[in-house]
Amino acid sequence: MSVFPQDFLWGAATAAYQVEGAHDADGKGLSNWDVYSHLPGTTYMGTNGDVAADHYNRFKEDVALMAELGMKSYRFSVSWPRIFPTGRGEVNEAGVKFYSDLIDELLKHGIEPMLTMYHWDLPQALQDEIGGWESREIVDAFEGYARLLYERFSDRVKLWATFNETIVFTAFGYLTGMHPPGVKDPKRAIQACHHVFISHARAVETFRKMGVQGQIGFVNVMQPNDPISDKPEDVKACEFAEGCFTHWFFDPVLKGEYPAELLAMSQAAFGVPAFAPGDAELLKNNICDFIGLNYYKREMIAANLDVDGFAMNTSGQKGSGQELGFKGLFKMVRNPNGRYTDWDWEIYPEGLTDAIMRINKRYGKVPIYITENGLGAKDPIVNGEVLDQPRIDYLRDHIQATAEAIKLGADVRGYYPWSFIDLLSWLNGYQKQYGFVYVDHENNLARKKKLSFGWYQDVIRTNGEKL
Ligand code: BG6
Repeated sequence: MSVFPQDFLWGAATAAYQVEGAHDADGKGLSNWDVYSHLPGTTYMGTNGDVAADHYNRFKEDVALMAELGMKSYRFSVSWPRIFPTGRGEVNEAGVKFYSDLIDELLKHGIEPMLTMYHWDLPQALQDEIGGWESREIVDAFEGYARLLYERFSDRVKLWATFNETIVFTAFGYLTGMHPPGVKDPKRAIQACHHVFISHARAVETFRKMGVQGQIGFVNVMQPNDPISDKPEDVKACEFAEGCFTHWFFDPVLKGEYPAELLAMSQAAFGVPAFAPGDAELLKNNICDFIGLNYYKREMIAANLDVDGFAMNTSGQKGSGQELGFKGLFKMVRNPNGRYTDWDWEIYPEGLTDAIMRINKRYGKVPIYITENGLGAKDPIVNGEVLDQPRIDYLRDHIQATAEAIKLGADVRGYYPWSFIDLLSWLNGYQKQYGFVYVDHENNLARKKKLSFGWYQDVIRTNGEKL
């Protein structure tokens, strides 16, 4: 007997900028990524999403492949500037039609849509006109965008997520400067992040006021932090890292408040987050229905008196990453006994059980969807076949880790590997592949099923019994 419930949603995920292409088609406005990725030195070898996997033009072919795979659900994101070219005001009906057609095509094949409203592609006009996430005005703009999505799609979409991985687009966008708008300032990062939580709460409030039938959640990445040793200074550094990386991002949407100690520290050090009247109540009254959990790796943490900086391996040359850290607080270090990908991400399936159970422990039995999980690799091609056995091994182990958590009592309702199809990795180009479907960039973006495609088909068919 499978431990997965009968109605478990076996799915796969993508995001608009990474898969759609057609960056200026049919009235779409420019996003921050359309602009940023064209600036010299910002992405791996200057790669961008102008064409990506051309999913915008080939979505019917792609949905047919999803149906062949047996997917029960598909997680995708909507590109805000495709709907509102300048972020607010006039609606681009052609953009609405694209998603409407995609949703119809999914439903025609019995595939349940899970819609993410924001997976990092902000209308550039909102960056230019109001200052993006740093501006309080963004809350109204986001609420207007969310309202339009509910009006047009809630007759067919039942699973909604507001934001994808707030830690990444706020920390990379405003703290390390690796994502747009390329700012490096903790104070600005923290206030931008606050506006995301408030925008989320407002979108949840509107969802409920409008009586939308469905569930609304928030997607966070979680990399459980473990201390590199049992020395008190490493354990303490690790607790602090867990607070910053995890509690800061889960508490506001699941408890309706920031972790008190960290909030006090941040306000004392930087004067932010600054609350507007009503913010605390808004957060408190709009706890979300589920959490989307993205899991790839864990982090080993050590006390840190020396490392100050953030330089990631974006080339896929194993070992080229450097130690990352915030001096005086903590650093992320390599596990001497760990297994690592070519991008220096630790492969640690037990960490997924751990991540799920840490959520359970802190927030109770909240419904969880694993909204991303996968192996980024340069897949071997042998006689024209894409033999991605390492991906199969990775996913199998993580599905087992999910089953473990269900056995321990967690309410996990779906599993969406990243990604359905090969797509653009924001900073790592097209060579870091995650998909079940290969995209041949030398041959007009032709689709080809990988070895993992047949394997996942069996997993779904047997509800996770045949791994
Ligand atoms: C998550 C994002 O952070 O991880 C995805 O939600 C992203 O958009 C994925 O592609 C994998 O990260 P990367 O850097 O390997 O592409």
